[in-house]
Amino acid sequence: MESNSGDHAENGRHDDGPSLKKPKPSLLPITAAEIRSEFAHHDPAVARINNGSFGCCPSSVFAAQYQWQLLFIRQPDHFYINLLQPSILRSRLLVKDLINADDVDEVSLVDNATTAAAIVLQQISWAFFQGSFSKGDAVVMLHYAYGSVKKSIHAYVSRAGGHVIEVPLPFPVSSDDEIIDEFRKALAFGKSNGRRVRLAVIDHITSMPSVVIPVKELTRICREEGVDQVFIDAAHAIGNVEIDVKDIGADFYTSNLHKWFFCPPAVAFLYSRKCTASADLHHPVVSDRYGRGLPLESGWIGTRDYSAQLVVSSAVEFVNRFEGGIDGIRKSNHEKVVEMGNMLAEAWGTYTGSPPEMCCSMIMVGMPGCLGVASSDDALKLRTHLRDNFQVEVPIYYNPPKAFEEQANDSVSLVTGFARISHQVYNTVEDYYRFRDAINKLVHDGFTCRMLSS
Ligand SMILES: Cc1ncc(COP(=O)(O)O)c(C=O)c1O
Repeated sequence: MESNSGDHAENGRHDDGPSLKKPKPSLLPITAAEIRSEFAHHDPAVARINNGSFGCCPSSVFAAQYQWQLLFIRQPDHFYINLLQPSILRSRLLVKDLINADDVDEVSLVDNATTAAAIVLQQISWAFFQGSFSKGDAVVMLHYAYGSVKKSIHAYVSRAGGHVIEVPLPFPVSSDDEIIDEFRKALAFGKSNGRRVRLAVIDHITSMPSVVIPVKELTRICREEGVDQVFIDAAHAIGNVEIDVKDIGADFYTSNLHKWFFCPPAVAFLYSRKCTASADLHHPVVSDRYGRGLPLESGWIGTRDYSAQLVVSSAVEFVNRFEGGIDGIRKSNHEKVVEMGNMLAEAWGTYTGSPPEMCCSMIMVGMPGCLGVASSDDALKLRTHLRDNFQVEVPIYYNPPKAFEEQANDSVSLVTGFARISHQVYNTVEDYYRFRDAINKLVHDGFTCRMLSS
């Protein structure tokens, strides 16, 4: 690889590559048969009601990705010199419009939300080491932050001398105000003893349990309270909830395109607000593009497969085949997942973990207490049991009972296990009926998690 790798590419031609034409909305909405065919590669034996974990990629987008991979291996030098950078730029322009960013330079493409978190946290770590932040200054995150993001915060912040504060969140939760109250208390604690809160990491949609967080309101509170930077971990958001980064007003916002936006694994965007002057953002994998701005640094991190980053226009073409495009998909997924969540809760005599307005295309459904989910380990074992014996793929969350709940309820009526069900365009009502019937059978057979060996 030449030492000036990437330099020629920015002057490359724009008239080549499989998906460089502007995606046009199709006239006829996609049919049910076409949807089945787009997802015919899914294992037909499995009721996959877990789009949230790994997303999905229709075969038309896969086909476009393969064309990009072929272009690369067919004539790598031409691909590298003429195609790669203009094609990444085209994807970034599409993302910019989808999230209402001001400028394409605010949008970088990276592998995933985990990488985006490392980029944001790395500059926080340097600010501690370089003395711009004082030892003991705080970083605030939600108790339900995603595991690897939590670990990253500790790796980058605690080791650099920062103090990490977790915001406890109620679950089940019934209103935004419950979250806002806890957040305000955590910020007040963060600012006690003369400390500064340097960063707030806020999920847009928490992973487990899944709840839509009022990010705009929390960002506004951060501004009022003098928090230096706000990073929204919105790994699940694009294609799932509406995103307007200007309206939200955070400094950084990341979302995976491979979860709910039909791109193959792995591609995410990281938005960084232009006016966030203090940010010293760099990709953790350094190439000769270091120092030329995050979008260009991220566009070349060594020889690898960049094809997932190049099919955003194909994903846009796919969503435009649905009535209302991605907004129509979001709305329909939301309505259906709420309907299915209510159907399951009713069948099992339980309840959902939050009201519909705090759900996206995922909802938490309480499972019968008699299943005896008594730990996170039990939840994992029950998930495996459902996969192995009923071909249902669904994540399960253990919600430890509060002391007063234990006193007021017997263990059979206490709901401690919640299933996180997703709805995506390929799901059918039979997927949820299979889950309902599997749980009903376990209950009927007197099953409890104690029966599962570790
Ligand atoms: C809230 C949240 N943040 C970060 C991630 C990490 O995403 P990835 O594994 O694509 O980096 C996830 C994954 O589910 C998530 O739910």
